Amino acid sequence: MIRCLAVENYRSLRSLVVELDQLTVVTGANGTGKSSLYRALRLLADSARNGAVAALAREGGLPSTLWAGPETIGKAVRAGDHPVQGTVRRGPVALRLGFADDDLGYAIDFGLPQPALSAFQLDPLVKREAVWAGPVLRPATLLAERAGTMLRIRDGRSWSTFPDSVGPFDSMLSEYTDPQRAPELLTLRERVRSWRFYDQIRTDQRAPARQIRIGTRTPVLAHDGADLAAALQTILEIGDQAALAASIDAAFPGSALEIGIEGTRFEVRLRQPGMLRSLGAAELSDGTLRYLLWTAALLSPRLPALLVLNEPETSLHPELVRPLADLIASSAERTQVVVVSHSRALIDALTGDDKATRIELVKDLGETKVEGQGRFDHPPWQWPKR
Ligand SMILES: Nc1ncnc2c1ncn2[C@@H]1O[C@H](COP(=O)(O)OP(=O)(O)OP(=O)(O)O)[C@@H](O)[C@H]1O
Ligand SMILES: [Mg+2]
Repeated sequence: MIRCLAVENYRSLRSLVVELDQLTVVTGANGTGKSSLYRALRLLADSARNGAVAALAREGGLPSTLWAGPETIGKAVRAGDHPVQGTVRRGPVALRLGFADDDLGYAIDFGLPQPALSAFQLDPLVKREAVWAGPVLRPATLLAERAGTMLRIRDGRSWSTFPDSVGPFDSMLSEYTDPQRAPELLTLRERVRSWRFYDQIRTDQRAPARQIRIGTRTPVLAHDGADLAAALQTILEIGDQAALAASIDAAFPGSALEIGIEGTRFEVRLRQPGMLRSLGAAELSDGTLRYLLWTAALLSPRLPALLVLNEPETSLHPELVRPLADLIASSAERTQVVVVSHSRALIDALTGDDKATRIELVKDLGETKVEGQGRFDHPPWQWPKR
């Protein structure tokens, strides 16, 4: 389980360290940084797949994603006596992301390339990376470290160094795979790669989830829901069939799910009371389809190590929020779940019986903060030094 997530200089997250629980609900007003937190987690996962540089480029490159405020916010500015002003930089530009789970920690530090050396001025360089044992990075807990293109791996009481073993734009987590020399790197990479992110899955008329497709056994629903019918059929065959039926009945009383199979092609169908025939994927309403997508994602027979849901309540009728909360709570008994949500009903349903930890984000001079978190009451965290 991930205990702690740390982000620095990513959009409005100037410096944030949050504690995550088995089930964590992230909420806050518009523009407080909920989506940024979600995206920061996804960037971390991308770095294990070596997609972080491309993901940052899609967001407009490092300069656009970097915290746009001043490097430090002085007391006078906080008190409102002075306007916010740019100051001369004391430290290098650094966008940093990291997390610590039960036994391993990881951090990555992106910086700007040297001007004039390359035309790709928007591509971030990976300046530092570190993997350590236990909750906090210390010289004694460090297991592997990367500085520029140089890799250093703990080898008993000494260190093995590997010059030029990772490209300047690549993550060591994705590039260096030696199960003998660095088993922790591999372990961590596999963990991070298994994280799943579900964000505004399309339900419009041309949505992938509405297409009839060739079905293969699908224990985990794809990010875009394209394999919905196969994922539901997989739950029917090797998953919790009773929970699936109960969840459909709780949301649409009297209705039953059917997977239409013609040859190798699968289609989601729903038999509803009052209908002479079941309705196919192209005929289901947006909200109905979305609920089926959540059912497939949350009842997955092989849940990932971390499941992150962005605004799952979108386009659901308030009456569906309770069954959705039950689905989320039951999957949180099997894996770690982070839910970013606006919906008071969903948050109340999830946090009601103390099953979930709630993180309320607030904006302070453009900077995202955790409501009620004092300067020193976040989990201990140490970034790798440049
Ligand atoms: N580079 C940047 N530096 C500082 N702040 C930024 C930067 N880029 C975006 N922001 C601000 O970060 C804030 C958080 O955006 P985010 O999308 O995370 O909000 P949100 O909590 O998801 O809001 P909503 O509820 O509207 O979806 C916004 O106010 C945005 O203007
Ligand atoms: Mg948002």
